[in-house]
Amino acid sequence: MNRISCLALAVTVTLSACVMDLSQLKVDDVNFVKSVKPILEASCLECHQHQYEFAGLNLETKAQAMKGGRSGAVIVPGSPHQSLLYKVLLLGHDSPVAMPPTPERLGRDYEQTIHDWIQQGAKWPEGVRLTSPQDKKKSRS
Ligand code: HEC
Repeated sequence: MNRISCLALAVTVTLSACVMDLSQLKVDDVNFVKSVKPILEASCLECHQHQYEFAGLNLETKAQAMKGGRSGAVIVPGSPHQSLLYKVLLLGHDSPVAMPPTPERLGRDYEQTIHDWIQQGAKWPEGVRLTSPQDKKKSRS
């Protein structure tokens, strides 16, 4: 084997190792506490909790989040594209219901995390409660 084909072989082996790693990452379930909770707490809880409950939607507990808002359920486990909680993230800011209601969207990675979490069944471990930024501040002072 000459040096070029030896190098080509080495590159192929390395690349396929990388591809295998990526496919393994995909089967991992999104961890609610580690990945979803911080996004919702930082971007949504300010307005969707006991003090404000905009649109009738409170995201503090699993039961409240699953009950949904004035439009009914906002999380359809297994179907992100039927879930208002995900769909509002994709709306452009000419829509009054685009969430969060700031000019900046959530960010592609975060949108994908919410998408994958709902697609994988929207698992929310029992007893895990989200805290609004206001309540976090209060408990610190
Ligand atoms: C600054 C306050 C604020 C923040 C932050 C916010 N929302 Fe909202 N949300 C609202 C208001 C106000 C409405 C009602 C909008 C309307 O219809 O005019 C609403 C409506 C909604 C609805 C529709 C509920 C229904 O039943 O019709 C969903 C779903 C929603 N928000 C999800 C989110 C998500 C997810 C986030 C975080 C990414 C978020 N919101 C962040 C204020 C907020």
